[in-house]
Amino acid sequence: MDVDDFSVADYDLVFETADAMREVLGREIKKVPTLRGKSVVTVFFEPSTRTRVSFEMAAKALSADCTSIAAATSSVAKGESLLDTLRTIQSLGADLVVMRHSASGAPYLAARHLDMAIVNAGDGCHAHPTQALLDLYTIRRHLGRLAGLKAVLVGDILHSRVARSNLSAMTTLGLEVTLCGPPSLLPGSNGDAGWPACPVETDLDRALEGADVVMGLRLQLERQEQGLLPSIREYVRSYQITRERLARARPGALLMHPGPVNEGVELTPDVAHGVQSVIEEQVTNGVAIRMALLYLLLGRGQ
Ligand code: CP
Repeated sequence: MDVDDFSVADYDLVFETADAMREVLGREIKKVPTLRGKSVVTVFFEPSTRTRVSFEMAAKALSADCTSIAAATSSVAKGESLLDTLRTIQSLGADLVVMRHSASGAPYLAARHLDMAIVNAGDGCHAHPTQALLDLYTIRRHLGRLAGLKAVLVGDILHSRVARSNLSAMTTLGLEVTLCGPPSLLPGSNGDAGWPACPVETDLDRALEGADVVMGLRLQLERQEQGLLPSIREYVRSYQITRERLARARPGALLMHPGPVNEGVELTPDVAHGVQSVIEEQVTNGVAIRMALLYLLLGRGQ
């Protein structure tokens, strides 16, 4: 559901299992029989490229049967409820459902009413736990450690499920986190509803000083229509991560973004594709992390 109840040992288990999965993915034939006979269904009520495809590739690499349902082409479009749709999938024999939904808490509701395993692939503004796992895994692989690193999350923090799950994971794993963005897109430093207390900074140049990890977040462009931003141009002027701004971070600092990126808004193209960017590697590591999770949930005799 989320990483908020993960211990350091839980993270270590997922990361060590992901290392083994990376080894599988490096083979000429990227497939093991571990989940043969298991059935994984992805149900996405919101668009996705990275999360959906990487779960599907992860399931197939472990030899699980994998079926994908998009809400628009399912009976949801005829008015079927979320729970009835999921009950139908369970009756069809699924062992595990990966679900994304625009309503915060939707996977928790599903888990209360169903017997099959549910994995949260993003619920509203609440959580995106598998994204946080692949982000921390990517940092650990690059910088060799997590505790003591300084991370800055930049952008629309308040509406970001990626930021919420990363803040929880980073805090547990001993990173020092600063949240940076316009005041209208930041939780208060004492924490708003559902946000733990965390240093906030509205000046990006100051926030980036000495950072080891800089994570841009997608600016949901509709925020301007909601009156939370004066203009996109104003946002870009103050909060776009540029080469000059990134130079304030530590030499060798990682530039991350969960994607999809609005290039030219959150990041300049030279930064997005520059030597410090690990954005594509985040995507690649998503397959190993999701293989690890499917294995840990389905492959150990459960
Ligand atoms: N990061 C992420 O969740 O991307 P998708 O929306 O493409 O899955």
